Amino acid sequence: MNQACIASRLPYTVEVERGKTYSWCACGRSRAQPYCDGSHQGTDLAPLQFTAGRNEKIWLCGCKRSRHPPLCDGAHNKLPPA
Ligand code: FES
Repeated sequence: MNQACIASRLPYTVEVERGKTYSWCACGRSRAQPYCDGSHQGTDLAPLQFTAGRNEKIWLCGCKRSRHPPLCDGAHNKLPPA
């Protein structure tokens, strides 16, 4: 099983629109962070799709270690030093 790359050691702050579906990058390889650009192809990882329930600002995980993806849960604070 492939391990996700750390795309960022901090979450991405994004505005989402109610009813719109987003594809969060789970592999960490996308160049369109925090969203999928297809770079997971060839790995056994896949993006996580979610639909926003309302217009709001959210914090999407950039380290790809959150236990509650796609949202940041603070796991980036426990990453080993770079
Ligand atoms: S950026 Fe991954 S848990 Fe915060």
